Amino acid sequence: MHAAVLTEPGLSPAYTTHPDPVPAAEGTLVRVTAAPIVPLDLLCATGTSYFGRPAVPYVPGVQGVGVVERSGRFAEGTRVWFATAAGMAPGNGSLAELCAVPDPDVVPLPVGVEDHDMAALGLSAVAAWMALTWRAGLQPGEHVLVLGGGGAVGQSAVGAARLLGAGRVVAACRSAAAQERARAAGADAVVPLTGNVDELAARLAEATGGRLDVVVDPVFGVPATAAVRALSEQGRLVNLGGSAGDAAEFSSALVRSRSIAVLGYTNNALTQAQRNEAIRTVGEHAAAGRLSVAHRVRPLAEAADAWAGEAAGGTGARVVLAP
Ligand SMILES: NC(=O)c1ccc[n+]([C@@H]2O[C@H](COP(=O)([O-])OP(=O)(O)OC[C@H]3O[C@@H](n4cnc5c(N)ncnc54)[C@H](OP(=O)(O)O)[C@@H]3O)[C@@H](O)[C@H]2O)c1
Repeated sequence: MHAAVLTEPGLSPAYTTHPDPVPAAEGTLVRVTAAPIVPLDLLCATGTSYFGRPAVPYVPGVQGVGVVERSGRFAEGTRVWFATAAGMAPGNGSLAELCAVPDPDVVPLPVGVEDHDMAALGLSAVAAWMALTWRAGLQPGEHVLVLGGGGAVGQSAVGAARLLGAGRVVAACRSAAAQERARAAGADAVVPLTGNVDELAARLAEATGGRLDVVVDPVFGVPATAAVRALSEQGRLVNLGGSAGDAAEFSSALVRSRSIAVLGYTNNALTQAQRNEAIRTVGEHAAAGRLSVAHRVRPLAEAADAWAGEAAGGTGARVVLAP
């Protein structure tokens, strides 16, 4: 088969030929139709992540969408979303024509969702959905702030907050293009992520209408410091990532006086059942046109160039590779 193959951590994978994967006894062979390049793929491939240096050569790609080619559990031709441990454990991932996947990591898709739309949402949308529901316990009518609202997690969180009945949804983003993506995802207001922490906290408090119950935070750093200052009594900040900084500063007086909760979130803490249920929910909303992430489809043959572009910061839209 053809695949994107990484031979040296820190470099881009090359589009080349690779032996066809052979599924294990309780495994499914999937013909891949769409697979995104996500921050976790890039992180694992650096060899410096907390998963350790990956064994090479390997095919990156922690998730994808495709059609069942051979399986003891799913009918041939079933359209599925799937997860892999590529880069986190030995084995190959989704940036290939074929992928062998353990049966519990395969989820049949609802009718009506496009492969590339589902690939762009994938685990980013799972994280957004579960951060809002399972971790933050969002209640209808509550006000939500999404930091990094123009990213894949951010757009998913804006859309999910709407679907879950939030009373007001505010996004905060850096570039004008990111602000536009957050608006398109359904934000009531979009705040530029600029200025010092005092200015940003004041802007967030104003945009959220003086009430802020839940913050979805894939960036941490100064934006999280400002967001915590804007949180209301019993407010919750759920942190998913640290692209703006690995540290944020919260005053003890503020956190305890308002009974604020700062919560961590990782998809890796979900059970397979939780993750698969979230994928089904996301798929149904996507099929109905209620949830989407801006993306750009590129041929798998352009994997090396697409990967290098993402590693250099990307264009903002999720890149989805199509074999
Ligand atoms: N915990 C989990 O389970 C989980 C799951 C999925 C993703 N994540 C993490 O969540 C983060 C976002 O993932 P994604 O898929 O949404 O990635 P993405 O689509 O590439 O978006 C990256 C986001 O990070 C923002 N950003 C990058 N550098 C920044 C900085 N210096 N200051 C402020 N914002 C910055 C971008 O803001 P602009 O759009 O304004 O440029 C954008 O919103 C990543 O760190 C990823 O590893 C965690």
